Amino acid sequence: MNTNKWILSLAMLAGVSVMVACGGSETAEETTSQTAEAAPVAEEPMAEAWVAPAEAKAVANPFTADAASIEKGKGIFTQYCISCHGENGKAEVPAGMAVKAANLVDKTPAQTDGELHWKLLNGRGAMLKISTYGISDEDGWHLINYVRTLAAQG
Ligand code: HEC
Repeated sequence: MNTNKWILSLAMLAGVSVMVACGGSETAEETTSQTAEAAPVAEEPMAEAWVAPAEAKAVANPFTADAASIEKGKGIFTQYCISCHGENGKAEVPAGMAVKAANLVDKTPAQTDGELHWKLLNGRGAMLKISTYGISDEDGWHLINYVRTLAAQG
């Protein structure tokens, strides 16, 4: 009798110890499918030409385009603008870029510094206003002085 009880309690113990360890199967299936099939860049011109308001036209650049101003503009342009406009301002960026930026060499000569500055301050679409990057109004003028040198190189 005693032996039977002993065997029974052993069997119960064994049963309890069978833990259903249902550890969450952590199969981190990160879908690393980067379908980087470069979509063709739309070559069609912008829907509407971007025109600064008339009053912006007469606003003068308070900074002479001297070496120091141009150098300052170049530094900022290199950091924030070439990703879209390219080193030479012609927007010759790698094919497949989602944004087709403006060719600054073509577009800027016909505009005054005031108009360009207004565009930098206001932005449009993918062209974010420069304050978004923490660039001051003042540095906007230096940027323009630098962009003028790119346009002059053609
Ligand atoms: C994310 C891409 C991108 C970046 C970064 C960028 N731009 Fe642009 N830029 C554009 C696009 C796109 C346009 C055309 C906007 C439109 O016409 O709606 C444009 C337009 C312009 C224009 C006006 C051209 C015209 O039609 O008169 C100027 C000037 C300009 N950018 C200067 C700059 C400067 C300076 C910087 C750096 C502070 C800069 N951009 C950064 C995409 C960019």
